[in-house]
Amino acid sequence: MGVLSWPSDSELDKIKTTVAEMAGVAVDVVRVAVSPYRICPLGAHIDHQGGTVSAMTIDKGIILGFVPSADSQVLLRSGQFNGEVRFRVDQIQLPKHIADSKEECKWGSYAKGALYALQRGGNNLKQGITGFICGTKGLDSSGLSSSAAVGVAYLLALESANNLSISPTENIEYDRLIENEYLGLKNGILDQSAILLSSYGCLTCMDCKTKKHKLIQAPAKREMEKKGEYKILLAFSGLKQALTTNPGYNMRVSECREAASILLKASGKEVEPILCNVQQEEYEAHKSKLQPDLAKRAEHYFSENMRVTKGLEAWGSGNFEEFGKLISASGLSSIQNYECGCEPLIQLYEILIRARGVYGARFSGAGFRGCCVAFVNADYAEEAASFVKKEYLKVQPDLATRVSEGTSVVICDAGDCARVI
Ligand code: GLA
Repeated sequence: MGVLSWPSDSELDKIKTTVAEMAGVAVDVVRVAVSPYRICPLGAHIDHQGGTVSAMTIDKGIILGFVPSADSQVLLRSGQFNGEVRFRVDQIQLPKHIADSKEECKWGSYAKGALYALQRGGNNLKQGITGFICGTKGLDSSGLSSSAAVGVAYLLALESANNLSISPTENIEYDRLIENEYLGLKNGILDQSAILLSSYGCLTCMDCKTKKHKLIQAPAKREMEKKGEYKILLAFSGLKQALTTNPGYNMRVSECREAASILLKASGKEVEPILCNVQQEEYEAHKSKLQPDLAKRAEHYFSENMRVTKGLEAWGSGNFEEFGKLISASGLSSIQNYECGCEPLIQLYEILIRARGVYGARFSGAGFRGCCVAFVNADYAEEAASFVKKEYLKVQPDLATRVSEGTSVVICDAGDCARVI
């Protein structure tokens, strides 16, 4: 593990003191689940189709301080949201659309979702937790997978309190159950795989069909042992909306499945209609049968898979210029083929790729709101950040002023995997 600046000692002390006061226990018995946010430089929107994605965590995210409670009671407070969440781990959880949606504290649904997933996996939990959760200020609902980071943090805390030893692979599946079954979002496994499998300084590559992953270290780091020649820039649009409340995401997933279904039928194959089941040659032979919109979704899938393959090579040989060009090409394909951006994010993307020192940029996450991510030469990171801030203010004065001054463009380093400390 490399030099990690997050969470800082003072952040840890603060959350431990808060939980110790809530639970009436000593500070040193408080445990902390650390769950970083993720970026996906290449491999956007193809995880739900079984494609191969690349990802990495950053040095910001969610921390959940907790202690096992005396019984099955869960009591949670949040640094971002008001109110308290209370439930018992021996109560059976049902998916949210079936359960009563009139609950008072909506932010508690990820904790209940984590319990749902663990119960679905056959775990009989007895021990609740008293906990306090908070995320890096200004970075929630931004396409950095804060929802998966929250889900993973609750899973880790409930498992730790119940002495359950669960592998990262099993937790990837549990987090999938939270999102796909409990909350009804038809997303893939990119987010939680990145959060659970990443290792400082490496690019994580996940084949979402076989669920096999590998970690690829850039040679610059291997050979020179220095903190890195790149920084990660996050440029925030000021638009925030949870993916679960935006029908756009699930609609694109359905379109990809429809395209797969047509291509598979034309190839005489009867398998699950997802694009990874269509061979490149079958796509080339039958793509003319797709209506324009579906043709664009399929083109995004096949071209993005190719960019991931090339990008892994570029990363592994330390060729950040090439890696960056592929990221920007991926960003363009999200705009033109996957058609998921919105005007402010497209403007941010265009500004970022004009900034001096930026290797490449794209929307972070699903692209309906939140931020754009860029890789930048470390020597130009500050200059690029102030350029982007200034230019975005010109094109989106209202939105730009909605983002708080300190978090409109954030310079980050890579992070590590989720863990309990
Ligand atoms: C969101 C989803 C992921 C993935 C990305 C886009 O973050 O949760 O599963 O589809 O969008 O790559």
